[in-house]
Order: sequence, then C-alpha cells, then structure tokens
Amino acid sequence: MTRNLSISLIFILAVSLNGFSQITGSGHDFSGNAWANNEICIVCHTPHNGTSTGNAPLWNRELSSVASYTLYSSVTMDAGSAIAPVANSASNSRLCLSCHDGTVALENFGGVSNGTTTIGIYGSGVGNIGTDLSNDHPISFTYDAALCIADPGLNDPTTTPVLNGTITTQMLFGGQLECATCHDVHDNSYGYFLRIDNTNSALCLTCHNK
Ligand code: HEC
Ligand code: HEC
Ligand code: HEC
Ligand code: HEC
Repeated sequence: MTRNLSISLIFILAVSLNGFSQITGSGHDFSGNAWANNEICIVCHTPHNGTSTGNAPLWNRELSSVASYTLYSSVTMDAGSAIAPVANSASNSRLCLSCHDGTVALENFGGVSNGTTTIGIYGSGVGNIGTDLSNDHPISFTYDAALCIADPGLNDPTTTPVLNGTITTQMLFGGQLECATCHDVHDNSYGYFLRIDNTNSALCLTCHNK
C-alpha cells in the first residue's frame, strides 16, 4: 500500500467515524433547508410507519400520482417496459420520480402534502426530467438471461461480474432495471450519483456488449 493511499484511507475512516454520510454536501443532502429538520435521511426514509409497498425501503415521501409515464420504446428494443400504478408498483423508480418528475414538492414527506418547492425551481433545476420518459434510457423492465438471447448485444446479468457480485445481484431490483441500477442515490463520488464510473463509457459497457 502506498503512503498516499494509507493517508486517504485514514481520512475516509476519520470522516466516517465523525458521522458524515456519503450524501453529505451532495445534491441529495437537504439538511440545510429549514423543512428538513437538520436531518439527511428523513426527507426520504423513516424508521417507523414508512411505506414498504413496491420495494420501497421504509419510504417517508408522498409518491407521485402520475398514473402512467410515457416510457422509451423503439423498433429494436426487445424488452417491454411499464411502470405499474403507484399502489402496487414493483418499480422503485417511483421513488426517484417522487421528486424527479417535477410534480411532488420536495417538502412532501412525513405526512406533509402542501409543500411548494418542486425540483424544477430548486437549485439549478437540472433534476427535473418530467413525466415524459420516452427520451430517457428504458426502465422498469425485466433484464434476465432470456433477454440476452433475444438481444445478443447484452451481457448476461446473472453471470457478468460487477461490484463484488453480478449485474443481477448488485444493480437490479427484483430482476428489474430501474433508475437506481445506474444511479446510487446515496453516493455522488463519480458525479451524477452514478453507481459505476462512466469514464470510457464503463457504466454502459457493463451491460452493453458493443
Ligand atoms: C433523496 C432520497 C434519499 C435520501 C436522502 C436517503 N435515501 Fe436511502 N434510499 C433511497 C432510495 C430511492 C432507495 C432505493 C434504491 C436503492 O436501494 O438504491 C434507498 C435505499 C436505502 C436503503 C436500502 C438499500 C441499501 O442501499 O442498503 C437503506 C438502508 C437506506 N436507503 C438508508 C439511508 C440512510 C441511512 C440515509 C441517510 C443517511 C438515506 N438512506 C438517505 C433514497 C434516499
Ligand atoms: C427528495 C427528492 C429526491 C429524491 C427522492 C431523489 N432525488 Fe435526485 N435530486 C433531487 C434534487 C433536488 C436534485 C438537484 C440538486 C441540485 O439542484 O443541485 C437531484 C439531483 C439528482 C441528480 C443530478 C446530479 C447532478 O450532479 O446534476 C441525479 C442523477 C439524481 N438526482 C438521481 C436520482 C435517482 C436515480 C433517484 C432515485 C434512486 C433520486 N435522484 C431520488 C431530489 C431527489
Ligand atoms: C442506463 C443508465 C441510467 C438509467 C437507467 C437512468 N439514468 Fe439518469 N443518468 C445516467 C447517466 C450516465 C447520467 C449522466 C449524464 C449523461 O451522461 O447524460 C444521468 C443523468 C441523470 C440526471 C442529471 C440531469 C440530466 O438530465 O442529465 C438526472 C436528474 C437523472 N439521471 C435521473 C434519473 C432518473 C430519475 C432515472 C429513472 C427514471 C434515471 N436517471 C435512469 C444514466 C442512467
Ligand atoms: C444495467 C445494464 C445497463 C446499463 C448500465 C446500460 N444499459 Fe442500456 N439497456 C440495457 C438493457 C437491458 C436494454 C434493453 C435492450 C432491449 O430490450 O433490446 C437497454 C437499452 C438501451 C438502448 C435502447 C436500445 C434499443 O434497441 O432501442 C440504448 C440506446 C442504450 N440502452 C444505451 C445505453 C447507454 C448509452 C448506457 C450508458 C449511459 C446504457 N445503455 C447503460 C441495459 C443497460
């Protein structure tokens, strides 16, 4: 181990012992806003009385009432994708869309429903991807070995190694490709909250054999 590496490891250890989360200071750290109660997790999670519907981990936020999003489609796309309605959605992309579709105020968590700060008017406004997702990478569909037979340009998610596991175990949610497949909402180390550094398109090449 080089000296610089050990110094950085000590620094990282010291920072984590001080209780800083990886979210601290990122675009997902809302603790500086009066409505966030000086807390980080509370805007999205609660330890009690959260919703766990549809793969939501102790979710504290109001979900978007948008009934159906327009999703990407093309003549060469082999998978079919759809986000199920809120109540029974297995798609945890719904969680991201509870801010990023621009319809639910950021303050609408923990029972609050009269907030006014939507993502479009918060910060730079770059986070507003809207409710028309047809110009965005497809989400909310099953990515499995069978899809790779239909589309040989894909790596088999069940066997392709990534992040100490496989694509299926580390990047999919109930076998589905979702927003959080490519993004890690808790960690902005690579910018854009990417789960894998996309230098030389490494993120894309994890799955696409191009
Ligand atoms: C901006 C919203 C947001 C904030 C803030 C946030 N989370 Fe999350 N969290 C999510 C979403 C969305 C998921 C589901 C997607 C995923 O697992 O990547 C999740 C998943 C989780 C999970 C389950 C999956 C896993 O990674 O183990 C845990 C545990 C968790 N969050 C803990 C926390 C804690 C602790 C904090 C505060 C330090 C926090 N989160 C802050 C949105 C958030
Ligand atoms: C509590 C609301 C909220 C939730 C939930 C949330 N985000 Fe965000 N996110 C934001 C806001 C607000 C910004 C913009 C911050 C700014 O203006 O700097 C942002 C920024 C981002 C960015 C852009 C960062 C940049 O550098 O420009 C990405 C990517 C992102 N979020 C992805 C996600 C994904 C994926 C999920 C779900 C796994 C998610 N977010 C969940 C509120 C949220
Ligand atoms: C297949 C991977 C992938 C999926 C799935 C994905 N993103 Fe992204 N996203 C990226 C990459 C890579 C960037 C970095 C910017 C770029 O390269 O255009 C990005 C950028 C963003 C940004 C920054 C603003 C912008 O438009 O560039 C936001 C916000 C965002 N994503 C939110 C989401 C949300 C919400 C979902 C689910 C509806 C999602 N992403 C699904 C890969 C993905
Ligand atoms: C976790 C795996 C994964 C990652 C990461 C990923 N993709 Fe995909 N992508 C897929 C799958 C699976 C499909 C659906 C292919 C199909 O059904 O034909 C797809 C679809 C697409 C399509 C549409 C294909 C069509 O036939 O219309 C394009 C273009 C694309 N991805 C580009 C990218 C780019 C660029 C990146 C990096 C920013 C990226 N993908 C990252 C898995 C991934």
